Amino acid sequence: MSEAEQIDNNRRHFLVAATTAAGVIGAAFTAVPFLASWKPSARAQALGAPVEQDLSKLEPGAMIKVSWRGQAIFIVHRTPQMLAELENPSLLARLRDPDSKASLQPEYAKNTDRALKGEYLVLIGVCTHLGCAPLARFSPQDAELGADWPGGFYCPCHGSKFDLSGRVYKDVPAPTNLSVPPYRFLAENVVQIGVDAEAA
Ligand code: FES
Repeated sequence: MSEAEQIDNNRRHFLVAATTAAGVIGAAFTAVPFLASWKPSARAQALGAPVEQDLSKLEPGAMIKVSWRGQAIFIVHRTPQMLAELENPSLLARLRDPDSKASLQPEYAKNTDRALKGEYLVLIGVCTHLGCAPLARFSPQDAELGADWPGGFYCPCHGSKFDLSGRVYKDVPAPTNLSVPPYRFLAENVVQIGVDAEAA
């Protein structure tokens, strides 16, 4: 082979290799955005995923907050006294939707306790007026909320009041009870937020 033929041959090999590499790189660049467009991000997956919480160390009368889908979930370990108060006729007379007819909750939480298990209240901690975070004001006869306050939740933004089942009082801005998310128990004291009990 002459020197000129050798250079031509080398040039042809180089061009073939360069074209093939460009094709592979091009395919990779077109595939990545396509994959990214249909695969949910890790953050989106995490936001939608069910959340588990062990309640065995949650003292009676105490509350913890967990995050599910970017919103606060309140879990309260209610005492027998707290549960008894939910039936108090003088409280019921002050509630707008005592039977939760106009409020959002799974069917299994449409009761006085608004819960699967009375001792554990699970609520979405978002005021149904304009979305502020209600405060836990569980002590009766609260200095700010009055001598007849039996304990519950208070939203400081515009003064909405809710009882210990998240049921809204009459004559406050919030139109409905605090919502109950779907949830189920995986064990006696382990709750999973985000999966309906009926689907278990
Ligand atoms: S946002 Fe709670 S009372 Fe307005």
